Amino acid sequence: MYGRVFGVTVVGVHGHPVAVEAHIGRGLPSLTLTGLPGAPVQDARDRIRPAVESSGLEWPLRRVVVNLSPGNLRKEGAGLDLPVAMGVLVASKQVPAPRVAGYAFAGELSLKGTLVGTPGVLSVAMAAARAGLRGVVVPADNAAEAALVEGLDVVAAPALREVVGFFRGTWTPSASEAAPPDGGTVGHAVDFSEIRGQAQARRALEIAAAGGHNVLLVGSPGAGKTMLARRLPTILPAMSREEALEVTQLHSVAGLLHGGSLRQERPFRSPHHSISLAALLGGGSTFLRPGEVSLAHHGVLFLDELMESGATPSRVCGSRSRTAASSSLGWRARSSSPPGSRSWPPRTRARAASAAIRDADAIAATTACRRIGRSSRGRCSIGSTSSSSSPG
Ligand SMILES: Nc1ncnc2c1ncn2[C@@H]1O[C@H](COP(=O)(O)OP(=O)(O)OP(=O)(O)O)[C@@H](O)[C@H]1O
Ligand SMILES: [Mg+2]
Repeated sequence: MYGRVFGVTVVGVHGHPVAVEAHIGRGLPSLTLTGLPGAPVQDARDRIRPAVESSGLEWPLRRVVVNLSPGNLRKEGAGLDLPVAMGVLVASKQVPAPRVAGYAFAGELSLKGTLVGTPGVLSVAMAAARAGLRGVVVPADNAAEAALVEGLDVVAAPALREVVGFFRGTWTPSASEAAPPDGGTVGHAVDFSEIRGQAQARRALEIAAAGGHNVLLVGSPGAGKTMLARRLPTILPAMSREEALEVTQLHSVAGLLHGGSLRQERPFRSPHHSISLAALLGGGSTFLRPGEVSLAHHGVLFLDELMESGATPSRVCGSRSRTAASSSLGWRARSSSPPGSRSWPPRTRARAASAAIRDADAIAATTACRRIGRSSRGRCSIGSTSSSSSPG
């Protein structure tokens, strides 16, 4: 007995369609996964049978083999729980095969059969749309996120029982709509107009915001460097829908998208100066994660107390050649990942950030940088403050 459904594995920030084939044959009861499943996918073997049985469905007491195709792509994440379960249910004729054909499935299953919110569902939905599928079946918690992709039928289900009910025609999902953007409108807790004096520094930030340049802020303690940098995002132009989707996608993959709404505020990332180089740049030995540089995509990466930082100029500049050489910020990834999939969006951002940091080698302080797609020649460094320019 054979069944086939679609899943999606997220590598870097992009989703890759995976055909999940299930075969039920003679032999002692077992579940074997083939097709380069990573550790989280292997974990699913012990989760899926209890989830199926808890949902009032039958687990075939025979030898079950599930193949994840293509076999040369490592599958990561718990989002393949649902497609594996559905593949087995289709193969055992508990779900009609023709109805599942146009859908991609994603979601982690609990032992009770409920669907748990899963990171990266926006990438899954985008991949399903690119593959020409009719819709996606996702956990109810991720409904708003998946609905951001236009033209896709989103089935948001609370549990496996409902997913099966949908394809049997006994359960109808409520219409999922994209949630409103964060806070309805773009709102900041601070504002550029709060800055008193500092005409030269304000002018430099305005030029940097308009031209997409890096900024180096140098000044004595208490002069207002951090205060200035925190207000830079408030004068940046609003993001286009494409930019907002890219930012939302990155935060979704990183598991930082709460509520699933479209991120319309430009990100402001201010990592602690003790951050490791790996956390700053992103990567991972098997499962790639975006770093702070990527999470600041289309926004501001603020490296405060730079000379105290683990990401010292020499280390970041040294890493630049490595990232450039591998055409990717995920340079620590294993070579089993497909070509190109290891590139986080703001690759050029990291390069220009390191160019700005090189200056700080000599004069130390605080760096705010934005849209570092420009060449290092395009940056704007300011000796922003003097102790005479006091607030108010
Ligand atoms: N021009 C200004 N307008 C309004 N507030 C200001 C101004 N300059 C400084 N401040 C206030 O002074 C305080 C100290 O500023 P801030 O923390 O930005 O200094 P800093 O230069 O980052 O110092 P450090 O080098 O110690 O980190 C903050 O509360 C800040 O809001
Ligand atoms: Mg400061």
